[in-house]
Amino acid sequence: MSFMRAARYSSLGPAAAVLTVDSIPIPKPGPNEVRVRLAFSGVNPTDVKSRSGAVPRELPEFQIPHHDGAGVIDIVGGNVDPSRIGERVWVMLAAFGSIYGTAAEYCIVDASRALPLPDSVEPALGATLGVPAVTAAYCVLGDGPVDGSVVLVQGGAGGVGRCAVQLAVWAGATVVATASTQERQQAALDAGAHYAFDYRDPNVAEHVGKAVGSVDRIIEVNLAANLDTDIQVSRPGTVVVVYAADGEDPVIPRRSLMTAGLTLEFMLLYTIGPERLATAVTAVEAALTDGALTMPSTRYFELDEIVAAHEAQESGSEQRVLIRC
Ligand SMILES: NC(=O)c1ccc[n+]([C@@H]2O[C@H](COP(=O)([O-])OP(=O)(O)OC[C@H]3O[C@@H](n4cnc5c(N)ncnc54)[C@H](OP(=O)(O)O)[C@@H]3O)[C@@H](O)[C@H]2O)c1
Repeated sequence: MSFMRAARYSSLGPAAAVLTVDSIPIPKPGPNEVRVRLAFSGVNPTDVKSRSGAVPRELPEFQIPHHDGAGVIDIVGGNVDPSRIGERVWVMLAAFGSIYGTAAEYCIVDASRALPLPDSVEPALGATLGVPAVTAAYCVLGDGPVDGSVVLVQGGAGGVGRCAVQLAVWAGATVVATASTQERQQAALDAGAHYAFDYRDPNVAEHVGKAVGSVDRIIEVNLAANLDTDIQVSRPGTVVVVYAADGEDPVIPRRSLMTAGLTLEFMLLYTIGPERLATAVTAVEAALTDGALTMPSTRYFELDEIVAAHEAQESGSEQRVLIRC
């Protein structure tokens, strides 16, 4: 039997208390699955929330964390074209409904969750795509094309936000981003945003209005903090897509929302359904092929540093966190 190094946990709790790195048997793919020899594993907020117990759930015997990764397919299961062996891929949702996440030398995923990496794309970039880019693609394009429209990305320097900026620019929108510091605003501008403002500025809505008039679509990371701004910069028909639930729930001002004629949408990658997920993935693939998604600022860890990697993610790292497998 062959073995691989894998980070894993068998109970929920703080990273240092529950995460270990062990040698375990290399799993084999079942029907419709592929095995990927991983180069990188990407860490996202959802991975550390799953491990910490922030979202209560029943644990299997053990869990190898992380949905995102990149590597090369080395074995395929039944019903999968053997010509995929040797294919460079980016991996998404690996740990969703599976114990074999990407924080290991190998993972097992459904063949549809291992997407071809264009020759021009480095594996490290591939490992940053899954959760953030697919979420962003759904938020930006989930109701149809946005070319010629104005998209406001609240938190445009974040993991999802930066992808949303790049995808909205790629799709032909005028993009306004918000971020905290000058440095973070510059990060959003570097990603392609046409304008960037400080979301903490009490006059932020005025600045957005002066720059673009009203906005058509808002990609929202913090509805409780930004709802007033969103109402001020909207027009009847503006859609706000909410993808994050950190902090307090917002108070919903019904009269103001009615007057503004604003639509609130909420999304969770795990529940959007296969068709809408596939549409978002297709958009990410097209943008990737066009060179529209670029490498974010990244902090690298070794697999043995899994605890430090999770702690960096939990401390709100402004850099993406990647693990070398
Ligand atoms: N619904 C889903 O399926 C889904 C998918 C992916 C992620 N998420 C969730 O979305 C959240 C963000 O994920 P991420 O990976 O993008 O995290 P991240 O990289 O840490 O980014 C968070 C961003 O939020 C920004 N922010 C904080 N308060 C803000 C405010 N009041 N207005 C505007 N921006 C604000 C920060 O901006 P500054 O750095 O400039 O302060 C930062 O850029 C997490 O809670 C994650 O679990 C949900």
